[in-house]
Amino acid sequence: MSKTQLFDLDGKIAFVSGASRGIGEAIARLLAQQGAHVIVSSRKIDGCQAVADAILADGGKATAMACHIGEMEQITSVFAQIHEQFGRLDILVNNAATNPQFCNVLDTDLGAFQKTVDVNIRGYYFMSIEGGKLMKENGGGSIINVASINGVSPGEFQGIYSVTKAAVISMTKVFAKECAQFGIRCNALLPGLTDTKFASALTKNDAILKHALQRIPLRRVAEPSEMAGAVLYLASEASSYTTGVALNVDGGFLA
Ligand SMILES: NC(=O)c1ccc[n+]([C@@H]2O[C@H](COP(=O)([O-])OP(=O)(O)OC[C@H]3O[C@@H](n4cnc5c(N)ncnc54)[C@H](OP(=O)(O)O)[C@@H]3O)[C@@H](O)[C@H]2O)c1
Repeated sequence: MSKTQLFDLDGKIAFVSGASRGIGEAIARLLAQQGAHVIVSSRKIDGCQAVADAILADGGKATAMACHIGEMEQITSVFAQIHEQFGRLDILVNNAATNPQFCNVLDTDLGAFQKTVDVNIRGYYFMSIEGGKLMKENGGGSIINVASINGVSPGEFQGIYSVTKAAVISMTKVFAKECAQFGIRCNALLPGLTDTKFASALTKNDAILKHALQRIPLRRVAEPSEMAGAVLYLASEASSYTTGVALNVDGGFLA
């Protein structure tokens, strides 16, 4: 009996935003392990290059490209680069996001509000448009949006961030419905609390962590690598009939 080829990504081109560390890095490494050529992206090229070099050292295929997803011209320019260098895109993982302000909703700062919307909503939306156009040219692809459990159940003091994550779940359904005719699937991953720099304000504070763990049935924080398997599923043929889904990977939190 032969092993399944359902999770093979040989010959695929994958772009992962926010791949210089954390969840994005774990996703980039697993997609590369499965055979994809991974474009490792974030704002700062050095961190991306380090991850791309580690993938290359492991025998994988990777290229580093800088892109601040809150800047429209950088989105246009990175897709022009992808078009020129690869001529196609099969997998887009929108993972980079921002959460600049922890506060009661009544104290929301306008600048922080705007930044969160520009990166988490406009960034994901236009990355998906540009990625979708490239995928359409080649008969299809898979878009995976890293949202959050906060998109379903808002996190305390994370008002506008939670609102943007709900918007990501909504846009996932929009792209799933309107791009299915082009062979493009679009799904969302909803991570629970994961041990990264992003979550360090929560995970490094004993009192907050204790409180958070009480609400997680598995009673622990996730490792970034525990998010990657779900993304591999959504990126690969294994999920060929799955689109418009929001997949919770949260230790049971939303249950
Ligand atoms: N960790 C959690 O508990 C948790 C829970 C639910 C959802 N999530 C979601 O998971 C995703 C990844 O988070 P993480 O925890 O892995 O964060 P992380 O470890 O802090 O990594 C964030 C990554 O995004 C990049 N980045 C930040 N702002 C960017 C921008 N404007 N444009 C492009 N790249 C940018 C960073 O690199 P540069 O500094 O070089 O740009 C870095 O590579 C986010 O969408 C987050 O909302 C995380």
